[in-house]
Amino acid sequence: MHPLEQLRDDALREIEAAGEEQELETARVKYLGRSGSVSAWGEQMKTLAKEEKPVVGKLLNEVRNAVTAAIETRAQQFHSQKESGALTKIDISLPGTPHEIGALHPLTQMLERSIQIFRRMGFALADGPDVEKEWYCFDALNTPPEHPARNEQDTFYLPDGRLLRTHTSTVQIHTMQAAPPPIRVIAPGAAYRRDEVDATHSAQFHQIEGLYVDEGVSVADLKGALEFFMHELFGAGTEVEFRPHYFPFTEPSLEVYVKSKALKGGEQWIEVAGSGVVHPAVFEAVNKARGDKAYDPEKWSGYAFGLGMDRLAMILFDIPDIRLFSQNDLRFLRQFA
Ligand code: DAH
Repeated sequence: MHPLEQLRDDALREIEAAGEEQELETARVKYLGRSGSVSAWGEQMKTLAKEEKPVVGKLLNEVRNAVTAAIETRAQQFHSQKESGALTKIDISLPGTPHEIGALHPLTQMLERSIQIFRRMGFALADGPDVEKEWYCFDALNTPPEHPARNEQDTFYLPDGRLLRTHTSTVQIHTMQAAPPPIRVIAPGAAYRRDEVDATHSAQFHQIEGLYVDEGVSVADLKGALEFFMHELFGAGTEVEFRPHYFPFTEPSLEVYVKSKALKGGEQWIEVAGSGVVHPAVFEAVNKARGDKAYDPEKWSGYAFGLGMDRLAMILFDIPDIRLFSQNDLRFLRQFA
């Protein structure tokens, strides 16, 4: 055996036996370091006879490569040992970090419950813009220019004359403009007024508008539909009362009150909606805009209503202050998760 081969075998054995990184480093210096034995053989080459040089040179290369490869392999082993050692220190029985899961806002929950109930009664969903032309908000709804609702103190006007809708009744007009009767829609959405903000007033609030137009629709249909809705929402023991009122776009007009022992506030009547039988002038305004006679008041009649969603949610969830809906206080919102 050539001494170089002996050297290689010793080196490989030592590398294999190295129990830790420091021992491996010692072996590397011993064999491959600048004054290590493999390197020493490189120096010795100069003294060899001419014909010996290629043979020994080739062998020396092989030995250097074998030793280098063995050191790398062993270093790699140490590395992966360290990694799996670190992994075994992880306690997989510990609970994980929980994700923060959001929940629906109480107003959204209220809206979804209401929509569900109306859906079962055959109402489809309708929609209209929050930024609205005056005509949709007032004129088409039989509300004359001198009506107080149109006062700048009560409404948010844009410089171009449009406004933030003061009620969702605008969607009645959009819906009838777009399709002939019969119509049975609800339109949930925001409404805006220049109200002084307090526990029961907000500049932005929410309504569900309802409109049903067909042949022979009467106050009885209106009362039946809203009574059914209130019973579904607040429970069968809920009392519903209709009180005469005035809205320009309905005749007769009725305010809707509910009372229920199950609700906070107990024996008190609470106003929750405006409603009425659609005024013929509203049909005529729609006909004029459509350019036809689709909503002939002699043939068709309808009822409409506007439910205050914030009010309903405050009653149902026993919420004392309307401002809580928009303050984004998690202590409040988490109670409805
Ligand atoms: N738009 C009215 C309001 O905001 C509520 C209302 C009353 C809506 C009567 C209606 C209705 O559809 O028929 O106070």
